[in-house]
Amino acid sequence: MSLASVIRSEQKLLLPTYDRHKILFERGRGVYLWDSRGRRYLDFLSGIGVNALGHGHLVIQATLKRQAGRLIHTSNLFFHEYQAELAARLTRLSGLDRAFFCNSGTEAWEGALKLARSHARVQNSNGHKPKWRILALDNSFHGRTFGSLATTGQAKYRDPFAPLLPGVSFVKFDDCDDLKRQFDASVCAVCLETIQGEGGVRPVSPEFLELARKLTKSGGALLILDEIQCGLGRTGRYFAYQHYGITPDVVTVAKPLAAGLPLGAILTTNHVATALHPGMHGTTFGGGPLACAVAIQFLRLMEKLIPHVRATGKYFHAQLEELKATHGCIREVRGMGLMLGMELDSADSAKSVVNQLMQRGILINRTNEKVLRFLPPYIIEQKHIDQLIRELDAVLSASSTAHPQFQKSKVRSQR
Ligand SMILES: Cc1ncc(COP(=O)(O)O)c(C=O)c1O
Repeated sequence: MSLASVIRSEQKLLLPTYDRHKILFERGRGVYLWDSRGRRYLDFLSGIGVNALGHGHLVIQATLKRQAGRLIHTSNLFFHEYQAELAARLTRLSGLDRAFFCNSGTEAWEGALKLARSHARVQNSNGHKPKWRILALDNSFHGRTFGSLATTGQAKYRDPFAPLLPGVSFVKFDDCDDLKRQFDASVCAVCLETIQGEGGVRPVSPEFLELARKLTKSGGALLILDEIQCGLGRTGRYFAYQHYGITPDVVTVAKPLAAGLPLGAILTTNHVATALHPGMHGTTFGGGPLACAVAIQFLRLMEKLIPHVRATGKYFHAQLEELKATHGCIREVRGMGLMLGMELDSADSAKSVVNQLMQRGILINRTNEKVLRFLPPYIIEQKHIDQLIRELDAVLSASSTAHPQFQKSKVRSQR
């Protein structure tokens, strides 16, 4: 099927939810993807943080083949051999005690919000009014279902679907005073992304996260972290909160967990888990044998990759900072490990850079209008980073020739 005929059919048959780039991908291997015209692309986006092992990983292929031949689905009415093993690995890595498996990021986040409310009820079973308010952050993103939208601090996602879940208030990003002002005895949970992804790759500050931990602990509320994008090795540690030296009460993960198959998880403590009993939460597909068997392999492979993510992330960050010294249109470089963002001076520049890189065979995307987002597979190497930096340098230089006010005096050395 040609790109043109796929576009025509989709326009007629699908809900108009996506504004896709006009590329039809047909296959992938390692850090590369090939489109229907045979063009090769270097993947610095990994399906928005999902393909952490790149494409066509042989161990994942073998696991998929083996498990697909044995058992794909059972429902959660019965046991299979992989959920407990996967939970054991995730709890060991996170410092938490228990897991619930689901199918996507937003579903994990919905479950975490339900935990917050049910935990508050259990804590107040002596007849006092349960805590009910949820504090979330401005500029956050937690998904597209109603609870996730209600805690997403960006009007463009929320407004078309109002009214949303009641009881949610938004705290200014990283503003300790605002958090102190809004936190009171009615709050059942403080919920945030350790590093905002869709919000423009913004790590929360240690002061803010420590304050959120302190207030929730002393106030009998939960600290719930969304690590759907930044978790599972992306920052060079298994969980981004491990850079901060705190442990949340609940953390949600998803994107890379099953190496491209849909799988999400809620991880929490034994104490919080007492707020649920059979029938209160569940899913038909979540945590099936195929996805869980693959996720176990993903975590096994991660053990070797974590130091590599840390080293390549550090190198990549330094290279982006060097570009910043050369190009006046770069406002800031942010992020940790292989979750990096580069804020440009305008949304138009960012859009144009993404398109030009795509024409040069490199995939990245733009988030929060002005921010170039880099989420490469964990297997990315220094030579691929050098290639991206060379191309980015060329694209930014071309646009600063068109807009000389952004050119800095220093001329970047030839790579
Ligand atoms: C931080 C964060 N939370 C939640 C979600 C929603 O995940 P999903 O699209 O799998 O529902 C995303 C997706 O981009 C995300 O980045």
